[in-house]
Amino acid sequence: MKLAVLKESREGEKRVAVIPDSIKRFKQKGFEVLIQAGAGEAAGFGDSEYAEKGAVVEPSLTKLLQDTRCVVKVQPPTLEEAELLADGSTLIAVLQPMTRHDLVRRLAEKKITAFGLDVIPRTSLAQAMDVLSSMSTIAGYKAVLLAAGQLPRFFPMLMTAAGTVPPAKVLVLGAGVAGLMACATAKRLGAVVEAFDVRPEVKQEVMSVGARFIEVPYAEDGSGGGGYAREMSEEYKKKQAELISKHIARADVVIPTALIPGRRAPILITEEQVRSMQPGAVIIDLAAEMGGNCALTSPDETVVRHGITIIGHTNLPATMAFHASQMFSKNIEKFLFHLCDENGFKLNMGDEITRGSLVTHQGGIVHERTKKMME
Ligand code: NAI
Repeated sequence: MKLAVLKESREGEKRVAVIPDSIKRFKQKGFEVLIQAGAGEAAGFGDSEYAEKGAVVEPSLTKLLQDTRCVVKVQPPTLEEAELLADGSTLIAVLQPMTRHDLVRRLAEKKITAFGLDVIPRTSLAQAMDVLSSMSTIAGYKAVLLAAGQLPRFFPMLMTAAGTVPPAKVLVLGAGVAGLMACATAKRLGAVVEAFDVRPEVKQEVMSVGARFIEVPYAEDGSGGGGYAREMSEEYKKKQAELISKHIARADVVIPTALIPGRRAPILITEEQVRSMQPGAVIIDLAAEMGGNCALTSPDETVVRHGITIIGHTNLPATMAFHASQMFSKNIEKFLFHLCDENGFKLNMGDEITRGSLVTHQGGIVHERTKKMME
């Protein structure tokens, strides 16, 4: 089976979906890999490296798409790119189907079998294919480095001849994959780290990376299944806001990461709370793409409001394109080898990974949550 790897077109996107190291494993499984010329360049993988590993480097996107039935990329295709896909072909990419309804509709019309890498269920079985987790690991790490670069203070405690420096206080809101990585990274840099999450079961994980878990004194569990949170009651939200306010006011760095799939990110930091923070403090809003967890976040911008720097970078993985592509490529390998054997794709809708990630097939929208949201 022929697999086409496309060059990314989104501004600032430096990742590539498949790296040269994966080619030999694809070949062993019977795939022939065709790569759009220059696709890996921004991530540090030249065309010659792909060719050496046995991939065909194709300069023409039109020809590439004519010649292949299965296309992989990182970002959702633009509508123009979707137009170029051969009718009835297979597409594997991050699709954001719950918000990109125009794209989903077009893919269905073109009878594309489209798999959304971002809707693969986050189960232990699917962990090795989960691009959200691997990319969130990068985002959590990079968020802390960005904060450290911006903060006019040290992270670690220092006792020097020129005086003693207290450690920075880092507050992480949402202790999922990105949040835990942020906690671990901030801890390694010597900060005092605390984290809050509506799912009480993450307390042990927070503690295991050396952070303190903040608990809301109100019995309500925010677990919504599949490792995600659900919407909380108004009473809980009020209690949570009161408690978190105190921690926000004394933090040097706040990294909010709260996500509810397919919904606008919940506001966890109001303008009033920003105003209460220490001058020079930094907020790295990882939920910027879904509107932000901070009321003053502006996606893809750094703004200074009330003396606080608020960074709303929406694509931190692209800033570490080498390792991000390496991880993405491994995720793609595992996903494809799960879906295919030497005879091609086997669509088993009884399989939770297939059912969870298949968005459009045979002219229909088959992803349940997307379908509901589009009704
Ligand atoms: P995740 O689902 O593993 O973690 C989110 C956590 O937030 C969960 O533990 C959930 O229980 C918690 N949460 C939900 N509502 C909350 C609330 N009201 N208060 C406190 N905690 C709450 O998600 P993951 O993979 O860690 O991603 C986190 C965020 O990072 C997402 O918004 C994702 O889109 C974003 N992200 C951003 C990137 C960037 O470059 N800016 C790159 C990758 C991910």
